[in-house]
Amino acid sequence: MIFTVRLGEGMRAKSAAIFVDGNPEVSGARTGCRFEETTGVRTMFEQVHDYLGQLIPERPMVLREMEQYANEKSFPIVGPLVGRFLYQIVLMTKARRILELGSGFGYSAFWFSLAAGSKGHITLTDRDKSNKALAFDYFKRAGLQSQFVFKVGDALKLARRIDGPFDIVLNDIDKQQYPDSLDLAASKLKRGGLFITDNLIWSGKVCDKKRDDTTNAIIEFTEKLYQDTRFFTTIMPIRDGISISVRL
Ligand SMILES: C[S@@+](CC[C@H](N)C(=O)[O-])C[C@H]1O[C@@H](n2cnc3c(N)ncnc32)[C@H](O)[C@@H]1O
Repeated sequence: MIFTVRLGEGMRAKSAAIFVDGNPEVSGARTGCRFEETTGVRTMFEQVHDYLGQLIPERPMVLREMEQYANEKSFPIVGPLVGRFLYQIVLMTKARRILELGSGFGYSAFWFSLAAGSKGHITLTDRDKSNKALAFDYFKRAGLQSQFVFKVGDALKLARRIDGPFDIVLNDIDKQQYPDSLDLAASKLKRGGLFITDNLIWSGKVCDKKRDDTTNAIIEFTEKLYQDTRFFTTIMPIRDGISISVRL
């Protein structure tokens, strides 16, 4: 039996077929997933995400505005399904010191701050200066209580000079730089701290046979992450795939 599913950020026009009965003869394929163009097909993955999306309770108006802004500008953000996951992780772990690599205009940091409240110290990084002003404007309007530091420049270079340890490092920079983020995260996290990385399913392109450099970098990173004895990793297949790795 084959379920056709469509994966990824903003539901790109790319789809995957998952062989749920593991019988390669059904399709002639031998791997766990394969991809095909299915324009116009509402896939299982889309339907599941729509279902999960409509379950999400109301969120603060400023978050809604940020989502609308991201939508209008085609700016990639983690979105509410993952945002709630970040919020929940802070509630579960009582994380206080959070470092973001690739903060955009502050949407993911907003979710962290909602959970950490006035005890949160959130360091944001982004190479685009204009995102800093935008983020602080949203934080101020929402009356967020956390302490925010927003550093502009290359996230990996900046982070090397920032003192840890952190409770959480969120990784959302250019995907080709993901392999370089691993040692940095390991060195900046406390034992038991969490390394969270977005976009590891990459619209399903990680299952394609023909891969571009970005997809290869994601796969290289993901394989290293799973093998790295400094971490214990699971990937959650919500939205575009988010990994959560505990620093051992
Ligand atoms: C996917 S967006 C981040 C979204 C944010 N985490 C959220 O969900 O609200 C990626 C951001 O990282 C920035 N970026 C990518 N690579 C970077 C790097 N090496 N150093 C600094 N910023 C980087 C981009 O400018 C962009 O704003």
